[in-house]
Amino acid sequence: MTISMIVAYGKNWEIGLNNQMLWHISEDFKNFKTITSGHHIMMGRKTFESIGKPLPNRTSIVLTRGDFKHEGVHTFDEVQKAFDFAKESGEEELFIIGGANIYATLFPYVDKMYLSEVDYEGEADAFLKPIDFSSWDLLEEKYYENIIKNGEMTSPSWTFRVYNKK
Ligand SMILES: NC(=O)c1ccc[n+]([C@@H]2O[C@H](COP(=O)([O-])OP(=O)(O)OC[C@H]3O[C@@H](n4cnc5c(N)ncnc54)[C@H](OP(=O)(O)O)[C@@H]3O)[C@@H](O)[C@H]2O)c1
Repeated sequence: MTISMIVAYGKNWEIGLNNQMLWHISEDFKNFKTITSGHHIMMGRKTFESIGKPLPNRTSIVLTRGDFKHEGVHTFDEVQKAFDFAKESGEEELFIIGGANIYATLFPYVDKMYLSEVDYEGEADAFLKPIDFSSWDLLEEKYYENIIKNGEMTSPSWTFRVYNKK
C-alpha cells in the first residue's frame, strides 16, 4: 500500500489558523477531490472537526487518543492499527490529509506527496515541517494563476507538484 500525503502550504509553510484553512482555492479543492476519491483518507481529530463531516466517496479514518466518535468515520488510537485497517480493506493508496500534528508524525511513512504551494504569506498557527526535497523525485508540476474579480484577488496563485520518495 502506498502512503501518500496531500497538503496545501504557504510561503512560510503555513497550513492553518484557528483550525481553518488560510485560503479558498476552488481548483485546489477540485484536485483534492479527484485525487482522493475512492480512497481511504486519514486525518487527526482536529482536522476532522474542522471539516465537520465524512467526505463523500472516501473512507474516513480519524486518529484520536480520546473517546471521539462520529457516524461514518473509523477511529483509531494508533497509527499502525489505522494502516492495518486500510491494508485489510484492500486499499492501494492511502492519503494522509492533515493536520500539522499528523503530517509531522506520519512523514517518515510517506512514499508519495501531492503538494500545493500557495503564494500566500500570513498569520498561522499550524505549519508543515519544512521538507528537504533532496530525497524526493519530482514527477509532475503545474502552475495556476491567481483569480482577480472586480479588482480584488479572490484566489492566490499556486503550484501543484507530485513527488515520489527516492
Ligand atoms: N493546508 C492543508 O492542506 C491542511 C490540511 C489539513 C489540516 N490543515 C489545518 O491543520 C490544522 C489542524 O492541525 P493540528 O495539528 O492542530 O491537528 P490534527 O493533526 O488535525 O489533529 C491532532 C489530533 O489528532 C490526534 N492524534 C495525533 N497523533 C495521534 C496518534 N499518533 N495517535 C492517535 N491520535 C493522534 C489527537 O487527537 P485527540 O486530541 O482527540 O487525542 C490530536 O489532538 C487546522 O488549522 C487545519 O485547517 C491544513
